[in-house]
Amino acid sequence: MSTTNAKNTPLASLDEWEDDLLRRYPDPETIATSKGTEEYRNYEDPQRETVKEFYRLNHTFQTHDFVMKKRADFLKFNRKEMTVWDAFDFLNELVDDSDPDTDLDQFQHLLQTSEAIRRDGHPDWMVLTGLMHDMGKVLCLFGEPQWAVVGDTFPVGCAYSDKIVYPEFFKENPDYDNPRYSTKLGVYEAGCGLRNVTMSWGHDEYIYQIMKDHLPEEGLYMLRYHSFYAWHREGAYEYLTDDHDKKMLKWVKMFNPYDLYSKNPEPPDWKKLQPYYENLVKSYLPSTLKF
Ligand SMILES: [Fe+2]
Ligand SMILES: [Fe+2]
Repeated sequence: MSTTNAKNTPLASLDEWEDDLLRRYPDPETIATSKGTEEYRNYEDPQRETVKEFYRLNHTFQTHDFVMKKRADFLKFNRKEMTVWDAFDFLNELVDDSDPDTDLDQFQHLLQTSEAIRRDGHPDWMVLTGLMHDMGKVLCLFGEPQWAVVGDTFPVGCAYSDKIVYPEFFKENPDYDNPRYSTKLGVYEAGCGLRNVTMSWGHDEYIYQIMKDHLPEEGLYMLRYHSFYAWHREGAYEYLTDDHDKKMLKWVKMFNPYDLYSKNPEPPDWKKLQPYYENLVKSYLPSTLKF
């Protein structure tokens, strides 16, 4: 990431966005026990400024036109073909500029998520969903700016909800006062279903598109909408959803705590886990994936 333009990299690492999510949506169990809310609600933290700048860029530049162009380019999947295991190695090239010693690598977050899901006895496809959910962050390694890889996602092509974090920054987005995109429904019809809605571009949509033939529908919703906090945490955009989305919402909600609250400074014992995961990957995925 050090080679990328600084304007596009306000975050010292992609984890800063996830740390901020924890501040917005603290773990109810942690609050109830030792740490208390203070630690999570420390708004004085200088990281908040970089996160704010990150959202300013994200909200300014994620237009309907921008997303269409990214989809046309990245959904050709003509960049790299890799085994899942090579893809994890590739993803791990994303290193944290701020403090490489204290943060776990990307693979460890994926493994901690999948292990937490497995511990609770969920079906194996959900374990695999946990393992794969952030693989789309390889977009950064293809030279994409942070604001087009991570951050809360939201529909483009219609009015932005004020339930999205830092809604004031949408005023800088050219779609904000484009009459085609600025009405409540914009280019969509009421109740059209999220599958007909174009979401802001990032790692969720990208990994969904890579995995869409290989996981059950519930898992695909977890991948595709895991950063759509305005929907799954704030209840916004109900007017775009249909009955199918409403049914799937509970799965997206079920997935979210595993993503947010499974972080642990102890890395899982990969040697012990490897046979299970090799089997799991083999049973659902082809020998290589196209990126
Ligand atoms: Fe993610
Ligand atoms: Fe994640």
